Amino acid sequence: MLGKTLTEYVTAAPEIVKNVGGYLSDREIRFLALLGGSRLADGEILEIGSFQGKSTVILAKAANLVGDARISAVDPLVVGEYNSPRELIDKNLSDAGVKDFVDFHQMMSHELAPEWSQPLRLLWIDGDHSYVGASTDFNGFAHHLADGGIIAFHDTINFYDGSLRVFMEDVLLNEHFGAAGLWGTIGWARYHTDPAFALQHRQRNLDLYRRLSRLVPYVAFGNAPTDWWSKASFRFHRCRVPHQELAPEKWLKAVA
Ligand SMILES: C[S@@+](CC[C@H](N)C(=O)[O-])C[C@H]1O[C@@H](n2cnc3c(N)ncnc32)[C@H](O)[C@@H]1O
Repeated sequence: MLGKTLTEYVTAAPEIVKNVGGYLSDREIRFLALLGGSRLADGEILEIGSFQGKSTVILAKAANLVGDARISAVDPLVVGEYNSPRELIDKNLSDAGVKDFVDFHQMMSHELAPEWSQPLRLLWIDGDHSYVGASTDFNGFAHHLADGGIIAFHDTINFYDGSLRVFMEDVLLNEHFGAAGLWGTIGWARYHTDPAFALQHRQRNLDLYRRLSRLVPYVAFGNAPTDWWSKASFRFHRCRVPHQELAPEKWLKAVA
């Protein structure tokens, strides 16, 4: 049963961060609010890729609601088009009242990985979207997922191959991941130490894998489709991947 406070927070979340720069749709913001505010495992939240702090604020406030001590986030803030001054994320976190609640590591995720040791209840990956980048993040941190924890990748069905392929190969075909799906472009799955708890989801995950696999030829090798026909074909196959927003209660039931 979803508490009234969390339900209200999920609904209000897009408005809370409307002035913070970022790349999340409103339904994705609501999903992050739900993920952060649903304690499905013990452990903390780690965000890879913060930019100006849009998802950081949402996750920190959600974690606050359920009594977490803090969340962690990592971003060097100097990667290509995402170059963003440290002062801006600091200001956005301060304005939202969560600055002291976020352990912000200004470095590349692969630099943080060797020193990371805490169990994770939520691993949110929104950093380097290349295949090598997304694999490095998965390999660096997924083994810290707590039993029942959630992994979530942004832009799984956008024009990037990293999150798509890693979500397909390392998550959907992994016997430890059970309930899984897409909410907007966020690919998510629940981790179980004992594969027996994941088994009942295998057929559904294979079906999702099959649908997602049709997108791979359009984005493999880091290429995004450029001509009209390829873009339209990609979008056609994407329509066939279930990725609608669910009522929070329904999602919680599906993931349980
Ligand atoms: C799409 S933006 C993140 C957006 C943010 N999550 C939001 O909700 O607005 C991607 C971010 O990932 C960061 N990034 C890229 N490679 C990274 C890496 N290897 N480790 C950590 N962060 C990285 C970039 O600096 C950029 O700020």
